[in-house]
Amino acid sequence: MNINEMFENGPENFETLLFLYNSALKKVHTKIDVLRDEFIHIHNYNPIEYIKDRIKSPNSIKKKLEKHKQDITYYNMVENVNDIAGIRIVCSFFNDIYRIAGMIGRQTDLTVLSIKDYLKNPKPSGYTSYHMLVTVPIFLSQGTVDVKVEIQIRTIAMDFWASLEHKIYYKFEGNAPEYISRDLKECANIVAMLDKKMLELNDAVNATRAGEDEEIEIDEDDEVFEEYESGVEEDDEDDDE
Ligand code: GTP
Ligand code: MG
Repeated sequence: MNINEMFENGPENFETLLFLYNSALKKVHTKIDVLRDEFIHIHNYNPIEYIKDRIKSPNSIKKKLEKHKQDITYYNMVENVNDIAGIRIVCSFFNDIYRIAGMIGRQTDLTVLSIKDYLKNPKPSGYTSYHMLVTVPIFLSQGTVDVKVEIQIRTIAMDFWASLEHKIYYKFEGNAPEYISRDLKECANIVAMLDKKMLELNDAVNATRAGEDEEIEIDEDDEVFEEYESGVEEDDEDDDE
């Protein structure tokens, strides 16, 4: 059941709406924290640099409805504004994005409503990120309600670009001169190159490390190991000291 079904004509006030979206945001944030902790526990590696979340401001919600020529009602907010609760996962490397998306997709109590893969298909602005619109069940005394949360997954480099692009573009209120858009697009290409290079470097380091681990791995059938174990050959390396 979604919020509008539970409250028939939408929630009766903004506080109820906020309470529901806040609860959903908390729940998804905790889920992602747990996924990260488990990942560190198993793989000894943290794919997430940081997580940010936010509830859309009343003014931004209003602006969005106006943009879509909709009446400002709680019903329409629930129905048509998908990012009232938003969470952004900023990860280290490009391939971590799909890894995290996969882990989120497999959570049995989250329902994925839609996916926008702006990594495969960047926006004309140059924007890249992986977006998932999910619902999470919130258990209330009257029953269970499914609340929407928008999840954005991107690398630190993509986040850097998106934050600054937003700041620069905002100043022009959408009417930036041609050269600004062109240069920002060029910066997005540099960001993509940077992400590719960093991933290659990381893969190379991991491959070297795997090689080193192999070298120091002790083969128990090894003659030297057997000799050492049975004490046949004394190690006299320290004698000179
Ligand atoms: P919105 O109406 O802007 O929410 O777009 P949408 O409903 O088509 O959703 P979409 O998934 O395309 O984008 C949602 C969010 O992605 C935005 O609220 C931004 O946070 C981010 N985003 C999308 N395009 C851009 C962009 O060109 N630049 C930056 N900085 N962020 C973007
Ligand atoms: Mg948005």
